[in-house]
Amino acid sequence: MVSRIIPVETFDLVIFGGTGDLARRKILPSLFRRLSAGQMPDDARIIGAARGDLDRKAYQALIADALAEFVPEDKRPSELVERFLDCLDYVSIDATGDKGWGELQDKMRDVTRAFYLSVGPSLFGTISQKLASTGLATSECRIVVEKPLGHDLASAKELNAQLSACFDERQIYRIDHYLGKETVQNLMALRFANALFEPVWNAQHVDHVQITVSESIGVEGRGGYYDRSGAMRDMVQNHIMQLLCLTAMEPPSKFEPNAVRDEKLKVIRALQPVLPHDTVRGQYRAGNGEASYLEHAENPDSDTESFVAIKAEVANWRWAGTPFYLRTGKRLRARLSEIVVQFKDVPHSIFEEEKHHNNNSLVIRLQPNEGITLRMTIKEPGPGGMRLVDVPLDMTFADALGPDAAEAPDAYERLIMDVVRGNQTLFMRGDEVEAAWAWTDAILANWAAAKKKPQPYDAGGSGPEDALALMHRDGRRWRDIEA
Ligand code: BG6
Repeated sequence: MVSRIIPVETFDLVIFGGTGDLARRKILPSLFRRLSAGQMPDDARIIGAARGDLDRKAYQALIADALAEFVPEDKRPSELVERFLDCLDYVSIDATGDKGWGELQDKMRDVTRAFYLSVGPSLFGTISQKLASTGLATSECRIVVEKPLGHDLASAKELNAQLSACFDERQIYRIDHYLGKETVQNLMALRFANALFEPVWNAQHVDHVQITVSESIGVEGRGGYYDRSGAMRDMVQNHIMQLLCLTAMEPPSKFEPNAVRDEKLKVIRALQPVLPHDTVRGQYRAGNGEASYLEHAENPDSDTESFVAIKAEVANWRWAGTPFYLRTGKRLRARLSEIVVQFKDVPHSIFEEEKHHNNNSLVIRLQPNEGITLRMTIKEPGPGGMRLVDVPLDMTFADALGPDAAEAPDAYERLIMDVVRGNQTLFMRGDEVEAAWAWTDAILANWAAAKKKPQPYDAGGSGPEDALALMHRDGRRWRDIEA
């Protein structure tokens, strides 16, 4: 497969929180990989902005260490690392005071400008206002923010208001890193570049859809943040919601930012309020030699959920009567994200002796081992009558498309380049985020009113019993979580 890399125009990218964990772990290594791939020009400038009293040299040394930690050795020849470090600069800045803003202004050129707020949301408003009042924000500059985009609908509205007081919506890039994942975008290609699936992609032919984002890791060092958030706010309101939207949305008329985002918004608005008995909350116990959730949480009595399962209904013509079962959790059997479209059974079986045991299903594996499997029923080979057997029609992208596919760019690489190119298709619009919170808030409110403890589940399993029952009672079952 020949990859076509189109270099972007030069840019100045300012990273507020430029010495922080996300910058070191994700943002800067991603930019480095784009430089290696020939997409980021050598004269692009990345300016770290943070409180620390560093100079340019010290910042370069800090990022050299980050690259050594987060980019494999064979992918960072010293000549490339030097070229990358040359692009870096640093300003010691006080987000709430005056220090550093003039210096930052002096460093900026008349090229594409982007400001990445890799800081807590409490600083979004303050930094936006500073950018506006100092004139650093131009009418064409871009501002990049990332979750948590609020804690509930009210706080999300407030954040949106703070951003839109200083920037137009066309300048605001809200990252959900799931939208930058190769296979998540492939979902749109699969649905809208093939004539095969669209005619059967509806309640008439689809029995139900399952979306699973399972993680084997626990909350580890993030106990403080996670305990205030829980799986619902951390994963469902954003990543799972995006997967649901891309699976359920109507075909947009064009692959164009607002056309795609309009369709996603319609899905969120069509979601029915979820009844309490259609949700399950869980919390992992100790197991496999690993600590329990409670040992990592700040509050030893915490009733924050590390697992959620939900039966959701998209109330529109396409999906009425076809439930979407969603689940996500930490410390489960394996790291696995997949979407399963389970088709209905044949209307009448002509094979009297053989009852169909499985219906057709399309499994879209987002990670790991990205690919698509279509499960079909065929005749078991050999004489002795007509015996039916289910087989997978399996396509792993790496096998089908070559090693380049296995090395798909990290989500952040694509998303940051899209910011520079000015393409908002893979970013969430403000109204989308608010609609997602409105739906989530109602579920959270039900939980708060019920005051029920999350159901404990064993580390290394597939979540609490009630999550299995959520499907069993409908005569359905989750696909196994397998490595
Ligand atoms: C983050 C969540 O947004 O996504 C984490 O805060 C989670 O809790 C992570 O582990 C999962 O991302 P990925 O790309 O590893 O599936």
